[in-house]
Amino acid sequence: MKKIFFILICLLLFKTIFAVEGMWIPTLLKKFNIEEMQKMGFKLTAEDIYDVNHASMKDAIVLFGSGCTGEVISDDGLLITNHHCGFGQIQKHSTLAHDYLTDGFWAKNRFEELVNPGLSVQFLVKMEEVTQEVMKGAKEDLKDVDLKKLIASNIEAIKRSYAGITNYLVDVKPLFYGNQYFAYVYEVFKDVRLVGAPPASIGKFGGDTDNWVWPRHTGDFSLFRVYAGKDNKPASYSPDNQPYHPKKFFPINLKGIRKGDFTMVFGFPGSTQEYIPSQAVRLLIEKSNPIKVVARTIKLGIMENQMAADPKVRIQYASKYAGVSNVWKKWQGETRGLVRLHAVEKKEKEELEFSKWVSQNSSREKKYGAILEDFKKNYAELSDIQIAYDLYNETILRGSDVFGLIARVDQLAQSVNDTAKFSRQMRIIAEILPGYFKDYDGQTDQLILPALLKLYFERLDPKHLPEKLNSCKTDFINSTWVHDAYKRSLFSDSLKIKTLLLDFGAKQIKKLQKDDLYSLYVTISEYYRKNIEPTYLRLNQNIMKVQKAYMSAILEMKQDQRLMADANLTLRVTYGKIEGYEPMDGVYYEYYTTLKGMIDKQDPNITDYLVPEKLKQLYNAKDYGIYKNSTGELPIAFCASNHTTGGNSGSPVINANGELIGVNFDRCWEGTMSDLLFDPERCRNIALDIRYALFIIDKYAGAGYLLKEMNLIK
Ligand code: ARG
Ligand code: ASP
Repeated sequence: MKKIFFILICLLLFKTIFAVEGMWIPTLLKKFNIEEMQKMGFKLTAEDIYDVNHASMKDAIVLFGSGCTGEVISDDGLLITNHHCGFGQIQKHSTLAHDYLTDGFWAKNRFEELVNPGLSVQFLVKMEEVTQEVMKGAKEDLKDVDLKKLIASNIEAIKRSYAGITNYLVDVKPLFYGNQYFAYVYEVFKDVRLVGAPPASIGKFGGDTDNWVWPRHTGDFSLFRVYAGKDNKPASYSPDNQPYHPKKFFPINLKGIRKGDFTMVFGFPGSTQEYIPSQAVRLLIEKSNPIKVVARTIKLGIMENQMAADPKVRIQYASKYAGVSNVWKKWQGETRGLVRLHAVEKKEKEELEFSKWVSQNSSREKKYGAILEDFKKNYAELSDIQIAYDLYNETILRGSDVFGLIARVDQLAQSVNDTAKFSRQMRIIAEILPGYFKDYDGQTDQLILPALLKLYFERLDPKHLPEKLNSCKTDFINSTWVHDAYKRSLFSDSLKIKTLLLDFGAKQIKKLQKDDLYSLYVTISEYYRKNIEPTYLRLNQNIMKVQKAYMSAILEMKQDQRLMADANLTLRVTYGKIEGYEPMDGVYYEYYTTLKGMIDKQDPNITDYLVPEKLKQLYNAKDYGIYKNSTGELPIAFCASNHTTGGNSGSPVINANGELIGVNFDRCWEGTMSDLLFDPERCRNIALDIRYALFIIDKYAGAGYLLKEMNLIK
């Protein structure tokens, strides 16, 4: 009996050490994590991960674009990230004649690599804590506005202090809601070229049907190359640029993975909200997520029909669709997960404990005594306008394409008297216009606009609706009105809008005001800006202030514990083990998938499940080369217990020796609430097995020459 008890205790301990919640700061690993990591199997040191004086893993990792991660895998700046991270670029290069989305793209040599204006990658040069410098001169009795000004000017001074380092981007960001600050210095490369991408039937296999779901068979990767000037420093695009030689690139391990292996993910997680109060979670579950899901369901339904009916629209809307659908699905999984975990009740319990701790002494009472009440008050008020805010964002501002463009031109019109702002707005519009019209289908937009307006009118509390619209709101969703309005509108025609912008001033603004779509947008948005937005901003400001105090109290209350700072799109390390999970009672999901599973899943009637002919042939011939696993199958993906979030897509998944074993791309359905609440039992990250990427490059695409620049560990 004693023995069984002992084994049980061991098993429990073993289990808890498997999944480790948290996205950790690279410079603090030595203090907080490295010992635990090594206990779990990591064979290297904290300096191997992050070091300013010597090449370390961080020198091989980039913030890819504005919200993904990528890693360098050759001495010639070859970069791997997800297919869905490069999707925008692949889509931009695609036309009916060169449909790289459907067929894939492989540059046969460096001259064929495709240039991507607007795309950049950022390498972290160094990061350091600057809390004291940011708070310099801050006194207890400072008014909010003055504190804000002081912080802003201190941050500017910190940025200037790095000014000697040319070509670098300096960012100062708050952690723990402004209880801590870090400065980040980046080197930004703007010449990043597309090298290769599999066809969507591989890179997006399973599509939106399988998105956020394990088991998965998506070959979610694409290849880019970073170019630099002759001095190996960042340079704007030039045909004379040369492949960038990084300080470090990742060796690739082909020996495979086993259940229980140590793994870490090193990348740029975007944002988490681990410390928000119960009211915030309730608002999300009950109001915000549901209304946003409804709006996007409508939009997606229309896009889907239009894309199915016209191949041109399919290409035009592929990237937009994926973007709208991705978060739409996540919100649904998140809500489910939070409900299942009784997140609101859990938070309420924590708040009860918190108030007990506060009431233990009078100085805490004085400092923190009002926090919970303040949360309650502000969230109660916010709750009244949350739907108005979400509806405006989902149906007006980001609903139809035309309102999106009008919103920009409206900002331009409002800044005619501010030369700097005006030229900034004009530059942005000039940049987006060509892409806008390449991917704009008037017919589709004409369906989306009235459908979303209808929802807006139906679901908005009438007290938040401009009176002007109350009597005539049915007109705007009438298809004849919509059709005529689009036909006459300046915004449906690239030539008309370009002419208008050519010499933009009072006369053109008058012209705008006669445009029906413009007037409708302005009526709604002016009302919103006057009546909803100020309250929304005020409440959020209040909430942020309370949240900062709450965070500071939690840091004090749990000072002997290791706390993770919420993700903020800066480089973080998360670690765990390769392991499957139990999604529901009686079911266990294995930790890896194979090509066999993809073939089993194929369905000629479902676009998301089409398998390319050549892949089938390779499967039938079992021509897997050096990429097969120990049972002779070709691995595709694996899951592990790393705490990741959006932005971690494309991140390197690294083994105990610091070698690349996979590329992170998703999380499992049962774990989508991990931005708010991490469940070690069910939260899993999903990664592409690097062997599958190499197999596709080598055997499927015949681009094996790319492998020659990599360091393969066989
Ligand atoms: N869910 C993943 C992430 O959040 C992948 C999204 C891309 N795939 C898609 N089918 N939309 O980004
Ligand atoms: N797919 C996400 C991304 O693009 C990753 C995640 O949310 O787990 O960053």
